[in-house]
Amino acid sequence: MTDLQQGFDAIALDYDRQFNERPVTQAMRTTVHRWYRHFLRPGQKVLDVACGPGPDLAFLLGLGLEVCAIDQSPEMVKRAQSLFPTALYHVMDYNQIGQLKGPFDAICANFGGLNTQAQFEDWAQVCFDLLQPQGLLFLNIMTQFCLSEFVFRCLQLKRPHLRGKKPRTLQVGGFPIETWYFNPYSWYRSAFAKGFDLVLVQGQGVLLPPPAFPLQPKALIRLLSGPDRILGRCYPFNQWGDHALLILRKRQ
Ligand SMILES: C[S@@+](CC[C@H](N)C(=O)[O-])C[C@H]1O[C@@H](n2cnc3c(N)ncnc32)[C@H](O)[C@@H]1O
Repeated sequence: MTDLQQGFDAIALDYDRQFNERPVTQAMRTTVHRWYRHFLRPGQKVLDVACGPGPDLAFLLGLGLEVCAIDQSPEMVKRAQSLFPTALYHVMDYNQIGQLKGPFDAICANFGGLNTQAQFEDWAQVCFDLLQPQGLLFLNIMTQFCLSEFVFRCLQLKRPHLRGKKPRTLQVGGFPIETWYFNPYSWYRSAFAKGFDLVLVQGQGVLLPPPAFPLQPKALIRLLSGPDRILGRCYPFNQWGDHALLILRKRQ
């Protein structure tokens, strides 16, 4: 088993408490779900890449979609399967999705599942081949610079985190996981521009504190989430969130 598998296996049962139930994560996920609702139609076939324990599955299934979900962590898949048995699951690395039976109307990868490798040219081609004409990619990645993180660290009189281009080693479940951060526009140009049009970039957590921030008063998060969504649509702020959702459409 790789460190990646062991690390995410170790946190599978506690993922909701540690990450998903945090008010900022919930606010950011709501924004992603608004875009799913806007673009997807009942009966369409969707692939959830790096699905984790399935925090998007209830929503996607609730939209009347046919969902196939993959993750490299067996424990994550086991948890998702026990909670949402109507989706179809595979334990696999996202570089192996070319083995799946397409075509899909959309491929989603939410909340940083893709930040575990540096290069995406080949993966973009695999997605192109798996999608219907005009099919959509929803890719939510961790960015290279987070404005709110920078400001909150300064207010705490702590040295600001500069995520930058170099990978950082994060501890997940006690295992070291290499993590790369991307600028949304350069990432799109480097790997996806050949086959996909960029529909939009939605920054998330431009005003909201980052999900790991210890203080998350619910009333403040509620107050900030609307303005965060609006500012997160405006260039250049849309590249400065904790995460950025890129929506891409397969070119004919
Ligand atoms: C932060 S969680 C995101 C989970 C979920 N998509 C969400 O919205 O909360 C990251 C997930 O990505 C998965 N992952 C990371 N690298 C992967 C890879 N190369 N192939 C498949 N899954 C991967 C991990 O196993 C983990 O379950």
